[in-house]
Amino acid sequence: VSPFLVDTFKRHHDYLRISLTEKCNLRCFYCMPADGVELSPKEHILSDDEIVRLASLFVQNGVRKIRLTGGEPTVRKGLPNLIARLNALRPHGLQAIGMTTNGIALHRRLPELVQNGLTHLNISLDTLDPFKFEIMTRRIGHEAVLRSLEVALASPLQSVKVNVVVIKDLNDSEILDFVEMTREKAFSIRFIEFMPFTGNKWDKQKMVPSSELLSRIASRHPTITKVPDELNDTARNYFIPGHKGSLGFISSMSDHFCGSCNRLRLTADGKIKVCLFDPKEISLRDLIRGGATDGELLQTIGLAVHGKQEKHAGMEDIDTVTNRPMILIGG
Ligand code: GTP
Ligand code: 5AD
Ligand code: SF4
Repeated sequence: VSPFLVDTFKRHHDYLRISLTEKCNLRCFYCMPADGVELSPKEHILSDDEIVRLASLFVQNGVRKIRLTGGEPTVRKGLPNLIARLNALRPHGLQAIGMTTNGIALHRRLPELVQNGLTHLNISLDTLDPFKFEIMTRRIGHEAVLRSLEVALASPLQSVKVNVVVIKDLNDSEILDFVEMTREKAFSIRFIEFMPFTGNKWDKQKMVPSSELLSRIASRHPTITKVPDELNDTARNYFIPGHKGSLGFISSMSDHFCGSCNRLRLTADGKIKVCLFDPKEISLRDLIRGGATDGELLQTIGLAVHGKQEKHAGMEDIDTVTNRPMILIGG
């Protein structure tokens, strides 16, 4: 990657997460504050042209993977066309286009997205119980998500992962049921530690450390085996011999992976955010709209990257006052 994307801890940032919208068709309590969020005025949201210009600049400087997030990315108008335009960056070095979605409005749209260049799909599904789904997401739609998952598994995507945010006494009793799904289905289930964000009423007591989940799974499945860590993966991965799918643990709180962080974020309203938990952001949108050249944009991106901290503050000290709520970051 170019020096603009290398930080002072020598981390190379070749992965860009782009939030496409602040809107979502669910209301998951761990992501969306109970009172909702104030949406940016429409004209503050990056246009397709602005996203493609910035994505192109990042790819020319070494970004190899782009992941589309939200809010809920499928809510954005013109998504298939935007993916096709990002796919056109492949000759400049882009290798993968991922999307993280709640799967509510996906099953009919997915084939076109894959055809246009989508390669990696992560679907959020926290529970296998439709009633709990309603409690956690404050909406109905469990069946639609399950259907999207099946469509995804039958599609030529390079990888399909399921994200489960584990909350004590809510869905942690379902861990072994999720593990059971990997017996016949070739996807990766990732159990995610509950993380603190503005408005999500995080409480350490509600977080289940990955180590605890792993030992619960291992007592049922003693043959569980570690997969060697992949560079820059958020998850520590395991497999159970005989199962078609695999398991992962995302331990952002109990065992962070900041040392190998390769991620940058672009918010829907056009700000570069160098760490999930760092409230400091710089507006690239204002620069673009002020007529900045690529060189000027790159200088600013470099400044932001060079300001990146070594690691997040630790679970007790993460800033949940000035940082954005999760819905406005995209994970
Ligand atoms: P891939 O590795 O591209 O498959 O995706 P991912 O696991 O990074 O992303 P996804 O959007 O599926 O997010 C899964 C969980 O990881 C969510 O809880 C994210 O908030 C969290 N996550 C993603 N990137 C980071 C990161 O850079 N730092 C931390 N602490 N958590 C992250
Ligand atoms: N803690 C952990 N993961 C979260 N996600 C959203 N909010 C949180 C949180 N507070 C996950 C979603 C989605 C991904 C983008 O981030 O479940 O899969
Ligand atoms: Fe990277 Fe920040 Fe996540 Fe650590 S907390 S892995 S530095 S984004």
